[in-house]
Amino acid sequence: MLAIVLGVSLAAALEAAEPERPATPAQSLLPVPLHVESDGGALPIDRGFTTAWTGADDPRVAAALQRSVARLEKRLGHPLPAPRRAAQARLVVEAASAGLPVQSVSEDESYRLVVTPREARLTAATPLGIVHGLATFEQLVVSEGGRAVVTAVKIEDRPRFAWRGLLLDPCRRWEPVEVITRTLDAMAAVKLNVLHWHLSEDQGFRIESKRWPRLQEMGSEGHYYTQDQVRSVVAYARERGIRVVPEFDTPGHSTSWLVGYPELGAFPGPFELVREWGIFDNVLDPTRDRLYEFLDAFFGEMAGLFPDEYVHIGGDEVMPRQWNASLPVLDFMYQHRLRDARDLQAYYNRRINEVLARHGKKMMGWDEVLHPDLPRSILVQSWRGPEGLAQAARQGCDTILSDGYYLDHMLPAAQHYGVDPLPAGRNLSPEESRHVLGGEACMWGEFVTPENIDARLWPRAAAVAERLWSPAEVKDVDDLYRRLEIQDRRLTDLGLTQVTSYTPRLQRLVGAHPVEPLQRLADLVHPVRFYRRGHMRSYTTATPLDRLVDVARPDSAPARAFRRAVDRLLLQPPAQRSDVEVRATLTAWRDNHAVLDPILADSPQVAEARTLSRDLQELGSLGLRCLDGLAAGQAMAPERQAEEERLLDAAERARAEVEFWIIPSLRKLVLATARQAELKTTSVEEWNAALDAVVTRLEAQKLARER
Ligand code: ACM
Repeated sequence: MLAIVLGVSLAAALEAAEPERPATPAQSLLPVPLHVESDGGALPIDRGFTTAWTGADDPRVAAALQRSVARLEKRLGHPLPAPRRAAQARLVVEAASAGLPVQSVSEDESYRLVVTPREARLTAATPLGIVHGLATFEQLVVSEGGRAVVTAVKIEDRPRFAWRGLLLDPCRRWEPVEVITRTLDAMAAVKLNVLHWHLSEDQGFRIESKRWPRLQEMGSEGHYYTQDQVRSVVAYARERGIRVVPEFDTPGHSTSWLVGYPELGAFPGPFELVREWGIFDNVLDPTRDRLYEFLDAFFGEMAGLFPDEYVHIGGDEVMPRQWNASLPVLDFMYQHRLRDARDLQAYYNRRINEVLARHGKKMMGWDEVLHPDLPRSILVQSWRGPEGLAQAARQGCDTILSDGYYLDHMLPAAQHYGVDPLPAGRNLSPEESRHVLGGEACMWGEFVTPENIDARLWPRAAAVAERLWSPAEVKDVDDLYRRLEIQDRRLTDLGLTQVTSYTPRLQRLVGAHPVEPLQRLADLVHPVRFYRRGHMRSYTTATPLDRLVDVARPDSAPARAFRRAVDRLLLQPPAQRSDVEVRATLTAWRDNHAVLDPILADSPQVAEARTLSRDLQELGSLGLRCLDGLAAGQAMAPERQAEEERLLDAAERARAEVEFWIIPSLRKLVLATARQAELKTTSVEEWNAALDAVVTRLEAQKLARER
């Protein structure tokens, strides 16, 4: 069943899937609401546009309305009347009840928004619905005939999943508070509601402890959040309907604890902060009571800072080497009938769970914590594969999905969008399915800095946000990309830098030279995927991240446009084909090298891209050869095809830690030219589908090899 009902014609709805056509504002919402009706008309926002809040007393309602009004003023360029507490205004928002003192995972987030040409009314059960409804309202504001208007709509909306998170890792690379707060702004704009704040790692301990001050004094090189900053972030998040779940990664990933407190370790130390990326041997020693005394005091202190009911204790990638090499640890395991490191970790988790429970907290951990001995109250975060999620749910534990949502893998938005926490056909009972609370996008910190983190998070995190909020049936990839582009502009208005930093960062690579030739190349490459980058060169916490690979994007609008143009071309009957558009693009690629190469030769930071630039020239020429062959109706000879494919294979290799986006479309052009004769026996559509099948299979094989 289609859960979205758009009160517009079917033809218009179909047009919306075509990225190059304009869509109505109601079709530009992200995430797509559960139910939208829109039958024309609009509410003008003029200088007299009044706003008011009524209903339950919760300061978040007025604050959210004030933020929305301030943003509207910025867009309009003139002031608006200040929001008032009143029952009448052009826009009235009303929460039926104040929210819970601590936002809960089960709290009602639904809202109803009705906009008519005369007025707008937003109602919700709690202030959370008001925050989400105002985000929707702001997305509906457009310019029409020289004035600002809000599209008339009737929207009933609520999330599909209650847990819609984003993990930030300021441990591997430091991210100051401004990065966290602007990320919270962006999260609120797409209705994400959990900040998973990964606060301790081998490379750094990032929060102030007054009880155990050597944690930050010796474990952070001065980069940590003070307790006042943490309180301000938690309050900032709460105002925006976002919970903050802290993660303290133990008993592995724990070197930064041990630098100041080596007595907590399974090895005597001394310990130094780790400066490389990877998985390291240092572990806490779970056999000693003093560890639990330490953690009891620590979590007691943290419980006072983080009101959320959950605390994440990590639990991932625990290396057993130090446990297995320690006689006291082995003796303890023998005494307690713990067969292996896994049992020992489960013992640790049980005790940590008791510590957290004493402080009123529920325990959450990565999927390695799953063990039959653990109580069902723990929440399991699945990252190693979807099976962890299903196992946790079958075991009666609440669970969330992150496998498939790792934004640091540098995969395109479409890839993450296709991952569903509860896909059709998943073999879970309704009761088990209820344990699947949602998911979290993860942005591990190895290759992000305050300068590029926005571009690494956005707009792709918005694709995950939609997957977790909108009905499962909302999954049109072209339409997602169309709306992500709009979302990018909205986030730019909020102060996010993913759009605005792109050209200036490329400019920096070429100094005073013109930037366009480099941008033409950069638009067509993406950083290598998964964790291959770390294997291609040695990186440390101090390596600057300002090369082409750090600016190149994990999605490419020009590459998608080229793919569509090739498809349009090949779907035309041969006699009516026009290759003007594709030919112009290929010619520009071919001719770029002559301009770019001297620039690269004079720009040490980006000289590594010279072979890529030369390959782009080759790829342009290859494409043009195909167009000529298609235009002449001349099938490519098998030897020629093999030669072109060798060229494509060579160009497909990663260099400078980036790869071309455009190889699949060029493979398709080569195949099309070689297999033209088939058009005598099949329709253009069947022929095109057959070519697609080959290219798609090759792409899938490549992705599997990289993984
Ligand atoms: C993880 O990515 N190690 C949770």
